[in-house]
Amino acid sequence: MVVINDVTNFGTDSNIAILTLNSPPVNALSAQVREGLHEGIKKAKDDKSVEAIVLICKGRTFIAGADITEFGKEPQGPSLFEALDMIENSNKPVIAAIHGTALGGGLEVALTCHYRIAIPSAKCGLPEVQLGLLPGAGGTQRLPRVVGVEKALQMVTSGQHVSAKECLKMGLVDELASEEKLLEGAVILAKKIVSEKRPLVKIRDMNEKVDAAKGNETIFSEFRKSIARRARGFLAPEYNIQCIEAAVNLPFDEGIKTERKLFMELITSNQSAAQRYAFFAQRQVAKIPDIPKETEIKSVKSVGVIGAGTMGGGISMNFANVGIPVKIIEQNQERLDKGLSIIRKNYENTANKGRISFDDVEKRMDLIEGNTSLDQLNDCDLIIEAVFENMELKKDIFRQLDQIAKEGTILATNTSALNVNEIADETKRPEDVIGLHFFSPANVMRLLEIVRGNKTSKSVVASSMSISKTIGKIAAVVGVCPGFVGNRILAQRQREANKLILEGALPWDIDDALFEFGFPMGPFAMSDLAGLDIGWDKETSKGETLRDRLCESGRLGQKSGKGFYVYDEKRNKSPDPEVEALIREFAESKQVLRREISKEEILERSLYPMINEGFKILEEGMAIRASDIDIVWINGYGWPIYEGGPMFYGNLVGFDKILSWLQKMEGEHGSDFAPSSYLEKVVKENINIFG
Ligand code: 3HC
Ligand code: NAI
Repeated sequence: MVVINDVTNFGTDSNIAILTLNSPPVNALSAQVREGLHEGIKKAKDDKSVEAIVLICKGRTFIAGADITEFGKEPQGPSLFEALDMIENSNKPVIAAIHGTALGGGLEVALTCHYRIAIPSAKCGLPEVQLGLLPGAGGTQRLPRVVGVEKALQMVTSGQHVSAKECLKMGLVDELASEEKLLEGAVILAKKIVSEKRPLVKIRDMNEKVDAAKGNETIFSEFRKSIARRARGFLAPEYNIQCIEAAVNLPFDEGIKTERKLFMELITSNQSAAQRYAFFAQRQVAKIPDIPKETEIKSVKSVGVIGAGTMGGGISMNFANVGIPVKIIEQNQERLDKGLSIIRKNYENTANKGRISFDDVEKRMDLIEGNTSLDQLNDCDLIIEAVFENMELKKDIFRQLDQIAKEGTILATNTSALNVNEIADETKRPEDVIGLHFFSPANVMRLLEIVRGNKTSKSVVASSMSISKTIGKIAAVVGVCPGFVGNRILAQRQREANKLILEGALPWDIDDALFEFGFPMGPFAMSDLAGLDIGWDKETSKGETLRDRLCESGRLGQKSGKGFYVYDEKRNKSPDPEVEALIREFAESKQVLRREISKEEILERSLYPMINEGFKILEEGMAIRASDIDIVWINGYGWPIYEGGPMFYGNLVGFDKILSWLQKMEGEHGSDFAPSSYLEKVVKENINIFG
């Protein structure tokens, strides 16, 4: 066995060369790996005793793609194209042996090999689109030649990881090896290829599947329509489609040129920069600087949830979905039955859509046990309280839990605004108390704010991070402050939106501007969806706010068919002149002079105060890093990932520009716009807040 360089091993099994890549953690194609690949293939080609080459990887995965950390830097070492050409043009068969994930550039390497073998647990995919990119090493030209145009379109625009079994069906891999015997399987296949004198299959020359789609523009127009909603605002899906079109309409080498050109455009775009930033931010958010890796993680094998309302039901589903039994407690049988029936209905809806089986519905429901006595929670490892947002009620529940819960149980509250420290202090074990702030619908939304109290132990924080991973959430650790991170920033946007509709904009002007920016909906459409009457009381309402007036006139939001908008029976919204009149009347009563408000002003007024609040949050240490704030907003509030989150976006706009805008606005309109002193410092000292 000869080591080519420290990431590549070269060995032989009789006449088969075995080239092993070993570059933890994911064998990404760094300059060193490319060089090793290049040298290893060359060595095998030059070695007369070698008749075939197996390319395999050590560690958890086959090559997971280009090394994303190298993007935007001066290229070093041999290009990936050189290595790929060498593999494809080798006069000895090259066999890719795949385990883990063959992704992006990794799958592109495998697609230049003459044969591919994988173990059943392996997955293949071209996820570049999720980084705002397209496969830039021939993937868009080779994939449709193997799997056909429709499947290729789906794969490159979704970035989905396809199971080895499915890959075998599609022809993306030639054989499956048994799970523990990839190398053996690959060597047997290599020997067979040699002895049977099988051809050196070059995917670039396989034109049958792309030719079949020539002249059929409907495939592309229909496909564009089918993804229009989820691809809205993104550049990369469209660019990926254009590459597949090139694969169909142009000779291979010309198609590669199109791919290259479009790849270069994307890689230098702000969108891809934002999406790559979000990729690393999402991994960074899981790291808590003062909590070492070896911190004790409590095992959570049973969960108690208090309250079977909107949140409690959704929270319970998260655990049942991963096989963890849940005891759900309500104040009476009627509410319990109602809560459980809503959970069942949700599962049945998912089963009706074919996403889970009806058998799964029963299995999950069997894991959820309802009760009306808190005492039942005495053996739970984690208890999450999700009762009404009322401090006295929550305190009372925590006092009871202190008596009931076994030692070491994590005691969590799902409060969206109350002080977690105050709740913790009701118990004799504040170190076990934490906020687990789920977002609605809790079984769907990926964000979880983990609210770390003053006394919460490191083990409880680490265990909460771990359990969030188990249930598939993206968790951000935040501090105790009103609204925590997400809602605290949201409050800024909400305040300005409410002011803007008095000053001259209409709800739909604001919603449209934010929708165009990339949010799934604007603040007024969101309020209608949530219901305008949350926290509104008919008895005490005195028409003091616009919301009061809307509710008083029966406009409670979508559920009553009208709110800020009017809704048809399919819940499609339209602007309503009645609302415009109400707003004008209300503005007049408040003596606010209405004026023309531009889209640009709407965006500045909505977004800049949010960014300013982000700085205040960082200054107070309520978020660990700027990118955590972005992760909260991308995953919890629909900030478009291609705009990178409020802090990333603020940096693109220029923090100096935002500061000047805030200073001017503060002078004209007062303290709502007072700049954060940390923002002032960042601008003055030119600090890079992304570290
Ligand atoms: N480049 C550089 N670093 C990478 C990387 C990559 N392609 N993929 C993963 N990493 C790093 C992560 O940042 C993380 O680092 P950290 O430990 O310091 O935080 C570490 O590897 C482990 O990654 P995960 O925590 O994500 O590990 P998982 O086991 O959960 O997932 C994975 C593994 C499925 C491979 C996942 O990391 C992944 O999806 N990676 C990205 C794959 C991808 O997008 N490939 C395409 C790249 S672009 C490309 O290939 C262009 C080409 O067409 C030319
Ligand atoms: P909800 O009103 O839908 O449900 C609360 C449930 O708690 C009710 O079913 C009620 O019967 C039950 N309950 C009240 N007292 C109880 C007791 N003593 N024992 C057992 N059950 C009791 O309220 P929702 O929306 O689920 O909110 C729950 C908590 O989650 C609140 O703290 C809220 O601030 C928070 N939250 C709400 C979000 C939302 O979007 N609805 C989002 C994030 C957090």
